[in-house]
Amino acid sequence: MTEKLRVGLIGAGGIAQHHMAGWEENQDAEMVAICDIKRKAREDTVERWGVAKDALFDGHEKMLEKVELDVVDICTPNACHKLLAIAAFEAGCHVLVEKPVAISADECRAMIKAGKEADRLLMVAQVLRFGVEGQTLRAWVDAGLVGDIYWGQCSCLRARGVPSWGEFIDAEASGGGPCYDLGVHVLDLALHLMDFPEPVSVSGATYLELADKPSLMKHDPAKYTVPEDMAAGFIRFANGATLSVQTSWALNVTEAAVGHNVILCGDKAGLQYSPLTLIREENGMLVNATPQVPVDVPGDIFVGEIAAFVEAILKGKPSPVPGEQALITQRILDGIYASGQAGEEVEV
Ligand SMILES: NC(=O)c1ccc[n+]([C@@H]2O[C@H](COP(=O)([O-])OP(=O)(O)OC[C@H]3O[C@@H](n4cnc5c(N)ncnc54)[C@H](O)[C@@H]3O)[C@@H](O)[C@H]2O)c1
Repeated sequence: MTEKLRVGLIGAGGIAQHHMAGWEENQDAEMVAICDIKRKAREDTVERWGVAKDALFDGHEKMLEKVELDVVDICTPNACHKLLAIAAFEAGCHVLVEKPVAISADECRAMIKAGKEADRLLMVAQVLRFGVEGQTLRAWVDAGLVGDIYWGQCSCLRARGVPSWGEFIDAEASGGGPCYDLGVHVLDLALHLMDFPEPVSVSGATYLELADKPSLMKHDPAKYTVPEDMAAGFIRFANGATLSVQTSWALNVTEAAVGHNVILCGDKAGLQYSPLTLIREENGMLVNATPQVPVDVPGDIFVGEIAAFVEAILKGKPSPVPGEQALITQRILDGIYASGQAGEEVEV
């Protein structure tokens, strides 16, 4: 049996708990080091995951210098993804990084370059691809059931869901609001199902109408420095397809409007994420098909995500979510902000 991949985690906060469960489940990898700048986060890790105290570090440089690692898993706020990923590549590691990949397309380009120079994989943790819905939709596309996708819409809306935890609302740490936190999930899934067509232009609008004022939400509105609490975009692709995206942390909408969804229409059939449906003509009728026995994927999407990364490393396969794809998503998100500011369509 080959030796297990040695994994070091940076940023032991909220999402890291899900990653740790994913690593613990994986037979081909083991978590051997954890780094967090906050003592409490490190101590909680010891308690919750039984990590040895000498495997804990308060800075990534020390961890990378002292421990021999194959993989670095980055679960810190967005603004330090680039710096940490490049350091991990320079230490010869493969990198799994949380979404959004970075806070600008240029940062993402630098990460891709560093990965190439180190000859290591960069995977962005776009977890929706690894759930039952994501895998089923992709299987329908791969089977040729959908045909050419020419129009779609994707949304991830919350009515009163500004994060009161972490550093999401702090512009310096996060770089953006719901666009980077939520929109990125559904946009990635839509683009993945469309085979990442080349985006040409984006018309976007961003709004900050609710989250910077007192409300029933628990966050401190005075600390709200990200540009938007709601954003909408319309994207044109070089192949003629178009896609709209909407995302919010705070919006005056009913419960029925909240949650995430992706709808994509091809010339042979349509797809819907929630509820999971294939829509097509059969025997002179337009039929909604819903899987009764869904595709077989791990119940926990983070387990599936990490298993895909480990398999790619061990079998020499391409990254399951490569930086080049994340770059397209990032260009579009940046385009929504730029277009919102300019008040007109922008090239991306
Ligand atoms: N996939 C998902 O569904 C999902 C959900 C939530 C968050 N995320 C992403 O995960 C990332 C982290 O979010 P979170 O909710 O876990 O945040 P969090 O604030 O709960 O945790 C981040 C941790 O990183 C630590 N940290 C910050 N800078 C560091 C540094 N330079 N070195 C070491 N540790 C550092 C903090 O001390 C904190 O413990 C973000 O990029 C976010 O977008 C993804």
